[in-house]
Amino acid sequence: MTATIIDGKAIAERIRAQIAEEVEARVEAGFPRPGLATVLVGDNPASQIYVRMKHKACEQVGIRSFGRVLPATASQEEVEAVVEELNADPAVHGILVQLPLPPGLDEERVLGRIRLEKDVDGFHPLNIGRLAQKGREPLFVPCTPAGIMVLLEEAGVALEGARAVVLGRSNIVGMPVALLLLRRNATVTVCHSRTRDLPAVVREADVLIAAVGRPEMVRGDWVKPGAVVIDVGVNRVEDPTAKKGYRLVGDVAFDEVKEVAGALTPVPGGVGPMTIAMLLKNTLRAAKLAD
Ligand code: GUN
Repeated sequence: MTATIIDGKAIAERIRAQIAEEVEARVEAGFPRPGLATVLVGDNPASQIYVRMKHKACEQVGIRSFGRVLPATASQEEVEAVVEELNADPAVHGILVQLPLPPGLDEERVLGRIRLEKDVDGFHPLNIGRLAQKGREPLFVPCTPAGIMVLLEEAGVALEGARAVVLGRSNIVGMPVALLLLRRNATVTVCHSRTRDLPAVVREADVLIAAVGRPEMVRGDWVKPGAVVIDVGVNRVEDPTAKKGYRLVGDVAFDEVKEVAGALTPVPGGVGPMTIAMLLKNTLRAAKLAD
């Protein structure tokens, strides 16, 4: 059996085109152009790349973007003051504080400063708290988990009663995606570094979300035949034959798993493009909330 490849890049492009159309229609109707502000603290090279990609994506769909950069030595007060300034700026509809923050800064306090209506990353403690509770609705859902749910929907995956296994329990992906799956009535198991007999637990999954950051950890014989596998990992591995000397691989051994799974996302071109599409979607929604 060869898995259906879930083309996140194509799905994300379609969503971005819809957003671009809607943005232009809003502007033509006299509403302010949606605006996203990013806050980058320190010089983490991966964060710099991600922030640059987010600005470029905004530009492509007609969303204004504002970039605030602070040195790694910035104090808690300085970072919070920037967030407050952006909270008060009517041209800024969404605020994204790129994570991780440098050591010594209190991430929860910074995220808690973001005005709820501008929390397009969905990491404000109140939004996360609402996500974790029955009958409560977060204003925004974190972008990578939201993108994963769209991929599952597009692939026609029935989640009700399905066994979902999430590998990884990060605040950014593992935990919120587990909560979203639970809200869709999947039976969810969250695995982590202390999970005993991990391959056996993973083999139970009808839906597997791999978000641990370990290159090609999930092997073909860990996967139940026909399972839907979403690979969130983006890992650099050395490859002397590649132009840059490395290539990107996921948390899933793609060539092995594609022979067993029913559907599978590639890396790159799976989850990654969806994260940015969801950020743009949330920013447009934030702009609408401000009308
Ligand atoms: N760092 C890694 N992923 C993300 C994300 O989705 N949002 C933010 N703010 N930081 C991140």
